[in-house]
Formats: sequence, C-alpha cells, structure tokens
Amino acid sequence: MSTEGKVYLYPIWLRIWHAINALGILVLIYTGLNMQFARPDFELLRFDLAVTLHNFAGVIVSINYLIFFIGNLVTSNKKYYRIKPKGLRKRLLKQLRFYTYGMFKNEEVPYPISEKRKFNPVQKYTYVAVMYLMVPIIIVTGIALLFPELIIEEVYNMSGIFLTAILHAIVGFIISIFLIIHLYFATIGKKPVSNFVSIITGWH
Ligand code: HEM
Repeated sequence: MSTEGKVYLYPIWLRIWHAINALGILVLIYTGLNMQFARPDFELLRFDLAVTLHNFAGVIVSINYLIFFIGNLVTSNKKYYRIKPKGLRKRLLKQLRFYTYGMFKNEEVPYPISEKRKFNPVQKYTYVAVMYLMVPIIIVTGIALLFPELIIEEVYNMSGIFLTAILHAIVGFIISIFLIIHLYFATIGKKPVSNFVSIITGWH
C-alpha cells in the first residue's frame, strides 16, 4: 500500500508486537542488571521485586514473541526476512561502508527503502539473527531457569543450571548491545525521528 511517496510498512499486529516487546525488554534489561549486580549494601530495586518483575516481563515477552513468529509465518512480512546467500558479503560490505563512510559524505543510500525492500542488508540480517536465534535462546533458557527441574543436572562435570544461567546472561548482554545499536540506526532516517514515527503510525 502506498500514497504520495509514503509506504505502509508496519502493519498493526507488528506494531503491537514491537511496542510490547520494546517495553518488555527494557524492563528485562533493567531488572536483569539489578539481579546480576545485586550487592547487600546497594540496590536500585529490591532484589525480590526485581526477580518478580523479571519473571513477569519474561513471560509477557515470550508469549508476545508468538505474535511475531506467527505473523511472520502467515503474512507477507515474511518476505523481508528471507535469507539470500548469493552476494550477501558484498551487500553487507556495501551497507557497512555507507554506515562508516558514505553517510558522513552525504552519499546516496545504497539500499533505499521501498515496499519491496523494507530493510537494508545489515538491518535485515541483524533482525534475522536477533529474532530467530537470540530471542528464542533467551526464551528457552529463561523458561528452563523458571523450571530448573527441567535442566540436565550435570554437563561435563559442570552444573546444568549454572551453564543455562551463563548462556541466558550472555544472550541478554548481546540483545542489550543490539538494542543500543538498533536505537542509533533507527535515528538514521530522513529526519532523526522519522523511523520512530513510522513504527508508531505504520507509514514510512
Ligand atoms: C525502546 C526500544 C525500541 C525502539 C525505540 C525501537 C525502534 C524501532 C524502530 C524505529 C523501528 C523501525 C525502523 C527499523 O526497522 O529500524 C524498529 C523496527 C524493529 N525493531 Fe525495534 N525498537 C526497540 C526495541 C526493539 C527490541 C528490544 C527488538 C528485539 C529484541 C526490536 C526489534 C525490531 C525489529 C525486528 C524491527 C523490524 C520489524 C519489521 O518491520 O518486521 N526492537 N524498531
């Protein structure tokens, strides 16, 4: 759908998923950091409150993920996530060159947004990796930590719970880094706020 240079890129189900996800993940990062760096003499948030909030937000984000997963299975949004290995390296390097050099020299965007191509290559493969690898890993390890009786007791003489917790924290860290980069890249639009308006209204 398009009118006068505007393209409708973010259908309502995607915007609802994204809003709940963004809010939920912010709560998870804040409460997660509180739990990770809890000290008896200093706490931003009471430890038991951080745990309760973290569990609650984790369940919401996990259920909400189904909206993204099923939506991307049954609607045309799936076409933006299709992996095309041919020429991938070249496309990624071209976009990275733009981000690190071309952008500051006012060069033309190498992959302009259209109804056919919602994401540039870097965006696309970052989203694929986060949404189909990182988020599923953090959901599965999160569920396992919520029901530790499900976890294998020992792996190579190490506690299964410990290994699951380490993996959960590492992926949480990666998603936090993704979020910082995601927010920065989202400001690279026609105007710094353009992309934020798009994810709220649906129109680019
Ligand atoms: C405060 C938090 C967040 C803000 C303000 C934000 C902002 C945005 C904006 C402006 C867009 C549209 C432009 C673009 O594609 O870059 C977008 C899309 C997207 N965001 Fe975020 N985001 C946030 C959190 C997250 C988180 C935590 C995730 C995943 C873990 C995420 C995943 C995505 C994905 C996958 C898309 C593309 C959806 C699609 O069109 O299919 N975002 N976000």
